[in-house]
Amino acid sequence: MMFTKTAVLGAGTIGASWAALFAASGREVTVYDPAADAEARVARMVEAAAGPLAELGWENAGDLSRIRYTADPADAVVGAGFIQESVPERLDIKHDLYARIEPVLEPGAIIGSSTSGLMLGQMQDGFANPGRLVLAHPFNPPHLIPLVELMGNDRTDPDVLDAAQKFYEDLGKVCIRLHKEVPGHVANRLQAALWREAIHLAAEGVASVGDIDRAIAHGPGLRWAIMGPSLLFHLAGGDKGMRGLAHHLGPAFETWWADLGTAHLTPEVVEMLVKGVDDEAAGKSVAELADQRDRVLLGYLKTRAALA
Ligand SMILES: NC(=O)c1ccc[n+]([C@@H]2O[C@H](COP(=O)([O-])OP(=O)(O)OC[C@H]3O[C@@H](n4cnc5c(N)ncnc54)[C@H](O)[C@@H]3O)[C@@H](O)[C@H]2O)c1
Repeated sequence: MMFTKTAVLGAGTIGASWAALFAASGREVTVYDPAADAEARVARMVEAAAGPLAELGWENAGDLSRIRYTADPADAVVGAGFIQESVPERLDIKHDLYARIEPVLEPGAIIGSSTSGLMLGQMQDGFANPGRLVLAHPFNPPHLIPLVELMGNDRTDPDVLDAAQKFYEDLGKVCIRLHKEVPGHVANRLQAALWREAIHLAAEGVASVGDIDRAIAHGPGLRWAIMGPSLLFHLAGGDKGMRGLAHHLGPAFETWWADLGTAHLTPEVVEMLVKGVDDEAAGKSVAELADQRDRVLLGYLKTRAALA
């Protein structure tokens, strides 16, 4: 097993979930988070994730004995081969943390930052030698969703990205590589593009917020979870594949693209969305909906693993 000793810096929504997965995989985890209730939060997450992670085959799911807590980030990284940084999305906080850990990092240690929106280049400026910092953006909750968006650049040491990818793959993750810095990386930009059109359609009165959600969840969203849009359109092109599809449906797509709308989260639009999701939720709380999402997600992940 690679990197048997890990550190999790910042143990909120994302860091606690990473800690649960690292521990479930049999790794030792040292957690640093300045919040007074961080230890209790991590324990709750490990407990909540234990059932799903056990169902996914992680033999050490729920094992809190592999997790140690410290009030000092430098202490957290001493001896750690892989460090997952999930502190708040502020460059000053990330830079301050990097300055505190850099003097005591193991020579071969890799730091993966969970950042959703900061640029790798900006984050690298927090290190005297940024060669072992990579962008490693997960999707919430990281202990269940496989995707990790990985990025290094010309300041990244050779082999660091490959080693990071191997580490995440050992944890059952699916990595993609970004070759250029763009705000929002790849997956959040795709979500943003689709949500923009969903909001536009609802604001224009084409369909309700709930029906637009159902159109995705019970239509293309099911297929996208299996293959992604380009490969699916390759299938839609029949014997001629993508070339046939581009020839046959290309002109229609060009017309639709030209007509796509835009969205702004004005107070009126936000009220429309709030009413729309309240109608959809039909009295279910956010926690109940999240539970439903995670139960179905787990079923999907197990089915996919069994059929792959
Ligand atoms: N929430 C998401 O859906 C999501 C998804 C992917 C990536 N991310 C990224 O993960 C990172 C963490 O986001 P989150 O949603 O878990 O935030 P969060 O607010 O839930 O957790 C942040 C944690 O960091 C702790 N913290 C505060 N100051 C700190 C410091 N100086 N050093 C160490 N820890 C400190 C806080 O006590 C808190 O527990 C961000 O970079 C974010 O962009 C978030």
